Amino acid sequence: MPSAITSTSSQTDATIFGGHGIARPQLTKPLSDSGSLQQYSHNDPTPAIGREFPTLKIRDLLKADDQLFRDLAYTISSRGVVFLRNQDVTPNELKDFMLRLTTLAGCPSTSGLHVHPLTEEGSELGDQISVISSEKQKKGGGLTHQLSDVSRYASNAWHSDITFEPVPSDYAMLKIHTLPVTGGDTLWASGYEVYDRLSEPMREMLKKLTATHDAKFFLDEARNLGNPLRECERGSPLNKGAELAAVHPVIRTNPVTGWNSVYVNKGFTKRINGVTKDESDILLKYLFNMVTQNHDAQVRFRWSKNDVAIWDNRSTWHCATYDYNDPRAGDRVCSLGEAPYLDVQGGKSRKEELGF
Ligand code: SIN
Repeated sequence: MPSAITSTSSQTDATIFGGHGIARPQLTKPLSDSGSLQQYSHNDPTPAIGREFPTLKIRDLLKADDQLFRDLAYTISSRGVVFLRNQDVTPNELKDFMLRLTTLAGCPSTSGLHVHPLTEEGSELGDQISVISSEKQKKGGGLTHQLSDVSRYASNAWHSDITFEPVPSDYAMLKIHTLPVTGGDTLWASGYEVYDRLSEPMREMLKKLTATHDAKFFLDEARNLGNPLRECERGSPLNKGAELAAVHPVIRTNPVTGWNSVYVNKGFTKRINGVTKDESDILLKYLFNMVTQNHDAQVRFRWSKNDVAIWDNRSTWHCATYDYNDPRAGDRVCSLGEAPYLDVQGGKSRKEELGF
């Protein structure tokens, strides 16, 4: 059994539901935007989610001051995902960038970069790079197995990264360097928007509930790939072993924005706890449908070679599109944030705060 959610009474703030003593965010209040990124051209591909900076370069950002990085963290967390085009950047630079981003966004001192349980030990790119590869996925299965064996719904692959870890990801960054001529788009959906579409009584009920997230299918995938599962510390002292399961609040507050989001996903969430299985099935189906059937809460990104996307896993879901035969590959880095929590009094609705 995954360890139960931490009791609120041991936390400094009695209005916090969830979280964990050694994995609390270091921010005492949400960040705000100083406007330093306004100097770069940008556009929002949809009202609900996404911002593209067509000319911003990661190499230049690595030389920028901390305030610009904090503004970028705020922009990623408030818009959900940021797109940067045609980046000449090495895997080591991706890792440096992500460490600086998560640190300046106030991650706990115990959180670093994630080591995926399927990452091959001794991989030449280092433990903290997950190679996203269509060829590897054909061998291993992974989330794509849900498309071939069980169903033909492309929407079955919607997920947030590594929510089976007690300390999951705050940010993730993906650079796609190998692309089919057409196809292979990725979609993101806004957790703030889905939360804002729930009625007040529904929000109040969900705020009292936790859910179990489980990635036991990675045990089969590790066997298929012939790699031993990484049972070591995977970026946080709380993430280790072969259990690959965790309990998190169903509604989660993002410390960077202070906004609440729905935090269950089709890829890993198996059960809402404390209700009957029938009730859990109905609630999860409803929440998953809110993600997959609201295309006005989503953005779809068409990649070009060496484009980079950076997203906030606390408040978005994403879904790759497997509509191609030619190889598609890239490098992904996930940083770890805080153990998920709900700020019962302070967590806000994005819509109510922004007024639209
Ligand atoms: C991911 O699920 O993190 C990868 C998304 C993609 O391959 O587009």
